[in-house]
Amino acid sequence: MQENSLPSEEYAFDDIEAQRYDKLSLAGTVRALKDDQQVEGVSLIANTRNASVYRIELGETVGILRTVIPGRIADDAYEEDPEIVQGVEDRIDHLLIGKGLDGLEQIITYSIDDLAVLTEAAPGVSIKDLSPDKVAKMSREHFEALAILLDKCEAPGIIIDQDPENVFFDAEKGFTLIDYYAAEGGESLSSELQFGLFLEVGLCNLAEQQSDPEHRQVLKDAVGRGLEVMRTHYRAEPATIAPALVQRYQTL
Ligand SMILES: Nc1ncnc2c1ncn2[C@@H]1O[C@H](COP(=O)(O)OP(=O)(O)O)[C@@H](O)[C@H]1O
Ligand SMILES: [Mg+2]
Repeated sequence: MQENSLPSEEYAFDDIEAQRYDKLSLAGTVRALKDDQQVEGVSLIANTRNASVYRIELGETVGILRTVIPGRIADDAYEEDPEIVQGVEDRIDHLLIGKGLDGLEQIITYSIDDLAVLTEAAPGVSIKDLSPDKVAKMSREHFEALAILLDKCEAPGIIIDQDPENVFFDAEKGFTLIDYYAAEGGESLSSELQFGLFLEVGLCNLAEQQSDPEHRQVLKDAVGRGLEVMRTHYRAEPATIAPALVQRYQTL
């Protein structure tokens, strides 16, 4: 087959990815990790159902490398298991759909051969682990930026996973959402629905789980600022958009 008979756009993209992957010597890193060797600058964060997740130092920045390590994945699944391969391909697809959207986890590069994906580390810490002084820094501006991001998620059908472990917060950079996915066929959830769920499933749940009254109060205050932004950004009373949320907020 002649090279110019390849679909040019696809070819160019894969070529750039392959070069970036090579430049970061990721093939060697992934091979070593699969052989259970320690690699300098690489540390394990989590073994999840589908993949092992590592923190990896890349000069000034920090990356997150997900790959499939035989023997560590769920149950008796093996590396070439079509479901495992499909899971990695889906994650890459969803990350590519979210590429360039400020506030979503960003892909750096990937390799289908290695079943590996490298993304940028989200700034800050997950809202599940946020100290009360950091919660107090969630401002109306941060909630407004989140609402704008969720507006932009509507067209590509990006859906955020509302687990508080998947929402990071940094006082300077605001909210960053990891582990998002794109709905099949581009069907989307509305921005206000996702925003309301974020306040309810993310922040109200966290507040209700708090035994320390002070911590509970700062979370409640943060939800209050979120409700204000709901009013201004979506031009609707929160009680009409998310009645259950407003009720739960009042009983906090
Ligand atoms: N981009 C990222 N920045 C910072 N931490 C991350 C990032 N991606 C994953 N992590 C950490 O690894 C954990 C597991 O990754 P995640 O993609 O959420 O796996 P799962 O699909 O199993 O939920 C997260 O809860 C988080 O602590
Ligand atoms: Mg997760």
